[in-house]
Amino acid sequence: ERPAVVVIGAGPAGLVLGNLLRAEGIGCLILERGTREHVQRRARAGFLAENSVRVLTGHGLAAGLLHKGQSHGVCAFRDEHGGFELDYGALGRGERHTVYPQQDLVTDLIAEFLARGGEIRFEATALDVEGADTDRPSVRYVGADGEQHRVTARFVAGCDGNLGVARRAVLDGSAARYTRDHGVGWLAILVEAPPSMTAVTYAIHENGFAGHMARSPSVTRYYLQCPPDDDPGNWPVERVWAELDDRMRTERYGPLRTGPILDLRVVRFRSDVLDPIQRGSLFLAGDAASLISPSAAKGANLAILEADVLAGALVSALAKEDEGPLAEYSATCLPRIWHAQEFSHWMIHLLHGPAGDDADAVFGRALQRARLHDLRTSRAHQDFFAENYVGI
Ligand code: APR
Repeated sequence: ERPAVVVIGAGPAGLVLGNLLRAEGIGCLILERGTREHVQRRARAGFLAENSVRVLTGHGLAAGLLHKGQSHGVCAFRDEHGGFELDYGALGRGERHTVYPQQDLVTDLIAEFLARGGEIRFEATALDVEGADTDRPSVRYVGADGEQHRVTARFVAGCDGNLGVARRAVLDGSAARYTRDHGVGWLAILVEAPPSMTAVTYAIHENGFAGHMARSPSVTRYYLQCPPDDDPGNWPVERVWAELDDRMRTERYGPLRTGPILDLRVVRFRSDVLDPIQRGSLFLAGDAASLISPSAAKGANLAILEADVLAGALVSALAKEDEGPLAEYSATCLPRIWHAQEFSHWMIHLLHGPAGDDADAVFGRALQRARLHDLRTSRAHQDFFAENYVGI
């Protein structure tokens, strides 16, 4: 029997979508390349915006995050002129984040999807999507048995990330692609240690940006700006902590809580948006639809938003025979995708001055300081920041 919807990818996008479809009794199969253990352990993002929490709560998917998530509404900045805090939860629209590690959310979503009668095939690697322009699209994949299979559905949802096969099928249609390499890298450092500060902290320093973000009472994320094609091998443990001390100005603000480094990788800042994010019976959500730089922690929140919109549209089509919302899916999501891109771009220029001594770089760093000064002193800029930092 063919499922109504085949979803490729069990990340936040695919799993939220699958859960919302199951809630309406729609047959849904998820194909995921990794093992269950792998996806449940993969540390990624952790800051959920209020809209994401609303979607999850509204669909009975928030028990874990309401129980273990930490409410977060203050962020801090520091540079050579000193530090300041922004109580963003009390500015703008008054929205806060909930900090809940993405692997915990993914774990909750998998359990709930299975409890709702959904099926996930782990270790199933999709090879391509065929027949996207027909009403019998199919996905060819290699299963855990090492054999090739094909599954046919009424609709396919591509939630397999920016390097996935669904995105390629939409690009092979007539989608336009908007892309930019921001020329910035972050060394992302996951440390087994409690947070060193209560707030997310952004440090601006002549050596480059450094960041601190809580993940859980025992795990903390740090970031160090680095060349976009840097190799984590260039970052022995001592260099990581020395550079964090320096850029976070611990001499002035107090020491960081250190611990074993659990993960070290270089994230290259890229943006990549397709338009439209659909082709015939194939629809993209999450990183498959658009990649955003991590500067404002928008990726997972966009993924959840798109999954919610797509679920509503698929339910209209399958349960109410109204394909109008599906036809409008790209037009509904793209303005929000671009809005998030714009703010993320603004954050990139707040946190990173261009390197070098040429006139352009010196000018760029002066603009960066002016932007930070406005944020420090102007209520209008603070409201702008708060509204966009949490909202989508
Ligand atoms: N076949 C099957 N599964 C695949 C394939 C494939 N060919 N390619 C990728 N996948 C799976 C990956 O193993 C992964 O589990 O698709 C899933 C994609 O999940 P994510 O990368 O988490 O993407 P998404 O759900 O779009 O969520 C994206 O979450 O971590 C944040 O900020 C990050 O923006 C990102 C957001």
